[in-house]
Amino acid sequence: MTDTIFLEMPVQYEIIVQATKKLDFKMASDMQTGSLLKTLAASKPSGRILELGTGTGLATSWIIDGMDDKTQLITIENNGLLLDIAREALQDRRVEFILADGYEWIQNYSGEKFDLVFADAMPGKYDLLEETIALVKAGGLYIVDDMLPQPNWPGGHSEKVKTFITDLEKRKDVTLTKLNWSTGLIIVTKLK
Ligand SMILES: C[S@@+](CC[C@H](N)C(=O)[O-])C[C@H]1O[C@@H](n2cnc3c(N)ncnc32)[C@H](O)[C@@H]1O
Repeated sequence: MTDTIFLEMPVQYEIIVQATKKLDFKMASDMQTGSLLKTLAASKPSGRILELGTGTGLATSWIIDGMDDKTQLITIENNGLLLDIAREALQDRRVEFILADGYEWIQNYSGEKFDLVFADAMPGKYDLLEETIALVKAGGLYIVDDMLPQPNWPGGHSEKVKTFITDLEKRKDVTLTKLNWSTGLIIVTKLK
């Protein structure tokens, strides 16, 4: 089995890759993570999906590809330059692109909970974990990537990752699987 061949790429993927290279943005999710997100998004028909940390929209493009007609995605990013690339390339009535600070957004959000949360920014992952898990419906999924050492990790980050994983593993309201694949993923299901 070769897990790095993707027969159906999101239509806008290459355009976003080019714009991402021009900006020299190096934090985008990889294709394996994207493909997994697409597969998991497709398991939530008429679902509500939250992405924290849109970047330029590479992971977003995969999530959208997995969504059915009635699924809605809210994606949060605090860098307008990055978000504009995603918004421009991925115009879609099912998607709400929000330019906001994730810390404020998570703490102020009072709408319906989500069937799937992809947490790819500090808020929602290393910070405000409790508040973010509270936004996931029972039976919903919480996904994180970049759990294996990455070249762009700042000093002290590996300690943060260790603490994050330990905190997740201690929780009684989730069940999870760690995957040493792609950049290191954890798939968490909220139990109640
Ligand atoms: C790892 S990147 C996400 C990459 C994205 N998944 C992709 O495929 O392009 C993390 C993103 O979170 C954003 N971010 C960092 N702090 C944030 C905050 N406080 N609120 C919202 N977004 C934030 C960064 O600007 C960056 O684009």
